[in-house]
Amino acid sequence: STHRVEIKGSADAFDVADGQPILDAALRAGAWIPHSCTQGTCGTCKLKVLCGSVDHRESPEYTLTGAERADDLALACMATPQSDLVVEPTGAVDDGVPHHPLRDYLGEVVELSDVAANTRRLVVDLDEDMAFNAGQYCELIVPGHGVGRQYSMANPPGEQRRLEFHVKRTPGGLATDGWIFDSLAVGDRIDLRGPLGQFNLVHQQAEPAILIGGGTGLAPLKSIVRHALDRELVPEMYLYHGGRGRADLYDVEFFTDLAAQHEHFHYRPALSDESWDGATGLVTDVVVGDFRSCKGMSAYLCGPPAMIDAAVKSLKRRRMAPRLIFREEFTPAA
Ligand code: FES
Repeated sequence: STHRVEIKGSADAFDVADGQPILDAALRAGAWIPHSCTQGTCGTCKLKVLCGSVDHRESPEYTLTGAERADDLALACMATPQSDLVVEPTGAVDDGVPHHPLRDYLGEVVELSDVAANTRRLVVDLDEDMAFNAGQYCELIVPGHGVGRQYSMANPPGEQRRLEFHVKRTPGGLATDGWIFDSLAVGDRIDLRGPLGQFNLVHQQAEPAILIGGGTGLAPLKSIVRHALDRELVPEMYLYHGGRGRADLYDVEFFTDLAAQHEHFHYRPALSDESWDGATGLVTDVVVGDFRSCKGMSAYLCGPPAMIDAAVKSLKRRRMAPRLIFREEFTPAA
């Protein structure tokens, strides 16, 4: 059986199957509900349920408190309807960004290579084009388990058939040690779904941008940089990539060449635990050392929570407007 869900204040209404999260059904129907992690940890997808009732399923208490549940709030990425619903997202539904429907895709692995310590580049040729925004991510479905793992596209959205992902190994991880760093091989068929997330750079912007990636947090930034350079979307871009040692860096030559070709693009890798002829220190400290003021600039941050927190603090101290700081946190794989 299905339930009908209406988004208040929009023309969007869609059917949700038994056990399907509201967000999944909305995005597949081409309706938009703000969201980021899609696994109950960020709270971006919080809805007010105006009519009807939901099953919160595994919604964590730290994202959705008892008081919020009593107040008819729900996490769209976790909750499933128990009746027809009228809901109202708590975030902005019309953010001026074009949204592409979520769909299931099939693809074939065409490249799988070690690019840095415990880091692989995975390139997949899809059977059909996928429209997405630079900065968004996909879920790769782990064979035999039916669970998804999230990886950002590193290719620009102009390349809709061949997707590039950067995968960091998690010791003992189901998707990495159990699959991508184990049995996965060129020629394998894989299932994925996407696009997801609202970390993106889509429109022309007046502000110069600082992009900071930690480890494989480089992936969505690579998509954004390539897209922004193709379309001349950003007047000046500064890309920082942080790692512990030289073995953690990758695509150094790619970005060095890109910087040589584009005078408005700057690339600065930084190592925290190894001295070399480049920038040394925590990547956020390197940024702070390079800019006395970040007033009138924007930032795109992707990496582990500690890096994001440090970067946001530093950029605000350097007078960057909070509304111009965009972030994508790695959510630890369960
Ligand atoms: Fe639902 Fe993050 S909690 S998208």
